[in-house]
Amino acid sequence: MELNIVCIPGDGIGPEIVAEAKKVLNKVASKYGHVMNFKDILMGGASIDVHGVPLTDEAIAQAKAADAVLMGSIGGDTNTSPWYKLPPQNRPEAGLLKIRKALNLFANLRPAYLYEELAAACPLKEEISKAGFDMLIMRELTGGLYFGERKTVEENGVRKAIDTLTYDENEIRRIAIKGFEIARKRRHKVTSVDKANVLDSSRLWRAVVNEVAKDYPDVELEHMLVDNCAMQLVKDPAQFDVILTENMFGDILSDEASMVTGSIGMLSSASLNDTKFGLYEPSHGSAPDIAGKDIANPIATVLSAAMMLRYTFDLDKEADAIENAVKQVLKDGYRTGDIMSEGCVKVGCRQMGDLLAERI
Ligand code: IPM
Ligand code: MG
Repeated sequence: MELNIVCIPGDGIGPEIVAEAKKVLNKVASKYGHVMNFKDILMGGASIDVHGVPLTDEAIAQAKAADAVLMGSIGGDTNTSPWYKLPPQNRPEAGLLKIRKALNLFANLRPAYLYEELAAACPLKEEISKAGFDMLIMRELTGGLYFGERKTVEENGVRKAIDTLTYDENEIRRIAIKGFEIARKRRHKVTSVDKANVLDSSRLWRAVVNEVAKDYPDVELEHMLVDNCAMQLVKDPAQFDVILTENMFGDILSDEASMVTGSIGMLSSASLNDTKFGLYEPSHGSAPDIAGKDIANPIATVLSAAMMLRYTFDLDKEADAIENAVKQVLKDGYRTGDIMSEGCVKVGCRQMGDLLAERI
């Protein structure tokens, strides 16, 4: 099979971790007889430095022409980087929002689970973590507060800022369908998270999710208020299978969920539209403080590449091979600094990539 993949190395540790993901993908290509064509495009600070904007129309066109996009991370230190002196629409993150919208990537899948080998890194009490957990956050990604009308005005000498939270029923329905479909491939449970005790957008969310649920009688549905969900994630994470939620709630809850795993350097994500196309990226950020030191953990990006093979290309065997290589490397006792524990062998980013490629 021929795979056309656009890569966005991005900023900070992005270029290092994407290089290791390519290394592993190249090994998959040679072992399973595929041709992988990689093309790099600029986004975020890297694009600002060259073009003055975080994402050019040409870069969008190149991404659109590919089968899938594999991304590292974008952004810098918001306190010190000159990128953050630019107007908001020219900062690195604006590039990310723009590509999500331009490619209609409305479904953001963020798995969070506890690796047996890394259980010691879980910040929860053992009586909670011993049950293990394996959840997937299905976050709506192109609507809500992120894309509603916003402005800052001055009225009678008082500054006032307005952000708007809008959802129409079609936007809710299509993400709900994605949530129920993926639950069918997992443990058949959807927890829909909203703030229906306060927000109209949440009351519509709940009503539409109930309508969609009628087509999935084999999937259990529960509704949970977002504040309660934030609590339940640290109290009893094992209760969750698929968490279905809107853009802003999903942003916050997915950081919380990844933190309770204790190993954010291990978590991948996928952003999908209603075709096979997807953008795949690690759940973590660009970690500018450790960039260029060969100490970043490339595993989240490598696992994002596995998700890409599974969701865009239907190459399940190859995706399994990558996921098994990750498990094997952990079993063999190799760790990057972020997941290091006593008795293990500490390795850098490049060596981790080599070790993973060897195990394909
Ligand atoms: C994420 C990030 C982005 C978001 C930022 C960088 C705009 O936090 O992917 O979760 O809020 O969606
Ligand atoms: Mg976030």
